[in-house]
Amino acid sequence: MRHVLSTPIDLPTPAASPASGRVRRSLLTLAVTAATVLTASLLPPTPQAAAAAGCISTADCLAKMTLAEKAGQMTQVANSYVSNKNDIATYGLGSVLSGGGGGPNGAGGTATQWADMVDDYQSYALKSRLGIPLIYGVDAVHGHNNVQGAVLFPHHIGMGATRDAALVQQVEDVTRQEVLGTGIHWTFAPCVCVPRDDRWGRTYEGYGEDPSVVGPLAQAAVAGFQGPSLGTNSVLATAKHFIADGGTTFGTGSSGYLIDQGDARISETELRAVHLPPYTSAVNGGAGSVMISYSSWNGVKDHGNAHLITDILKGELGFKGFVVSDWAGVKQLSDATYADQVAHAVNAGIDMIMVPDDYVGTINAIVNGVNSGKIPLARVNDAVTRILNAKFALDLFNHPYTDRTYTAQVGSAAHRAVARQAVRESLVLLKNNGALPLSKTGTYKIVVGGKSVDNLGYQLGGWSISWQGGSGATTTGTTFWQALQQATAGTGITVQNVGTRTKGPYTADVGIWVGGETPYAEGKGDSSTLAFGSDNSSQLSDICSRVTVCIAILYSGRPLVIKDQLPKVGAFVAGWLPGTEAQGITDVLFGSGFIGKLPVSWPNAVTDEPINSGDGKTPLFPLGYGLTPY
Ligand code: BGC
Ligand code: BGC
Repeated sequence: MRHVLSTPIDLPTPAASPASGRVRRSLLTLAVTAATVLTASLLPPTPQAAAAAGCISTADCLAKMTLAEKAGQMTQVANSYVSNKNDIATYGLGSVLSGGGGGPNGAGGTATQWADMVDDYQSYALKSRLGIPLIYGVDAVHGHNNVQGAVLFPHHIGMGATRDAALVQQVEDVTRQEVLGTGIHWTFAPCVCVPRDDRWGRTYEGYGEDPSVVGPLAQAAVAGFQGPSLGTNSVLATAKHFIADGGTTFGTGSSGYLIDQGDARISETELRAVHLPPYTSAVNGGAGSVMISYSSWNGVKDHGNAHLITDILKGELGFKGFVVSDWAGVKQLSDATYADQVAHAVNAGIDMIMVPDDYVGTINAIVNGVNSGKIPLARVNDAVTRILNAKFALDLFNHPYTDRTYTAQVGSAAHRAVARQAVRESLVLLKNNGALPLSKTGTYKIVVGGKSVDNLGYQLGGWSISWQGGSGATTTGTTFWQALQQATAGTGITVQNVGTRTKGPYTADVGIWVGGETPYAEGKGDSSTLAFGSDNSSQLSDICSRVTVCIAILYSGRPLVIKDQLPKVGAFVAGWLPGTEAQGITDVLFGSGFIGKLPVSWPNAVTDEPINSGDGKTPLFPLGYGLTPY
């Protein structure tokens, strides 16, 4: 929704700007030199020229910027809401983002199409009066998950099961390269939440229920994204969602959710002991940004909490990067008008607002807030300084466009090999009565079935191509059934896939059921039951009753109630949401061995929730559990 400017604000006049003069000159040069057909929008002014015409350091930029331009830098709009790309130049917008599924033409799009899209937006920013480049943001939360053909890693809960900080760093180093291949230098990851209640739909976005699990992996992720120091080959990391998004009380959810975006009814002692340590790790590791949580702490929305953002994060922890709000999170503050909500959020310490739609209204709110004395100018200058420092550190002024050498590597075999290793290490063996490992020699028959056995979308979970994830071949990858066929090719093992038709007449020496949750994201995944599901239950029973040895592989973002299933199987594997490379699973089944340890306590029943290590409750399997029989 577009707002008409209610008060005339101090916007640059395009005709008088040096940048537009530059564009005219380059147009002329082009016309003379070649018959190349280029629209003005695709004309990249040379970065050096932009700097010469605009500004060359944070202090220099700040000195030259109007208040409206400063407000523009603090404003982030979603690509789907950029109705007129010229507005990026006119208002000097600081950032554009792609939300879940925010590709060049809706969900999906190849790396090249993404790079073209991002470069196109960037070309408009370089035409702004001072030529300040955009910092484009995206949710690369388990690989560059919105992009067709990118390698997708296990969601964080699976990475938490690995307990392997070096591997997490390697995974995010690969993600860094794939993100750079689309011209993007900012990811809204890692989520360093500490999920305390498995009924939360975002449990899988966290590394585990204990800060001792989350902290080291959070720091490793930051190192993977950013490298040893910020530079042109870095992707700025975002520790999110500050704070205690994983500590909310069931039944307090907002936006119609059960627990997501809820209220963390915990003492400051617990907040500091459980939810703050991962931020200390991420900040010490140099994380360039922090995203604020939709949730509240004892009734107060985090988006308006100066004690948390300014006193604790920026003060105590010494965070020098910039703070971004969550998607329309500012609009959840209870202040009377949008202008008041914006002023409240900025005064609480938010530096950039993920609007994501009404950028004009947001700029107006900041400008009018300063002019009316509601927002101190010093606060705006601090916010803009933090944002520009990141842009200069990433060297966006000199390298605003995609380095296409990375583009060709998106989804490469080398990148997939890292994901396969991550899958191997993430699997947790909950039960084994000798069913595993499977032998590669001898002559025998394996039958597989269940709804996820050959469904890539289910294997990926939410935040995969689209926000909520999908079903079937949504991108390039290897399903469990495909991996099994590869693993057994040339052996004496016969394989058969019965899919969901598990009642048919068949027998086998070994049966493998693969099923679990279907994809979801955020509060849409909140569950009041953690139920295994009647379709899963009957398919597993069907298969196990027709074979000699039965193995269950569960794809889920969190523990489900499996008490009734365990006695029916010889082996039970928690597979989490493994991503695009299921060969990692067959590697382990055929003998490479289990390494994974539970990143969360596994409940007996949903009534155990919330259940966490040290709370005196007895789980079905404790935090850290995982068999290693071979
Ligand atoms: C989520 C964030 C995400 C943002 C942008 C929000 O709804 O809570 O985790 O980074 O959207 O997609
Ligand atoms: C976007 C997500 C965002 C969500 C917030 C969706 O339309 O794709 O990225 O997190 O809205 O509700």
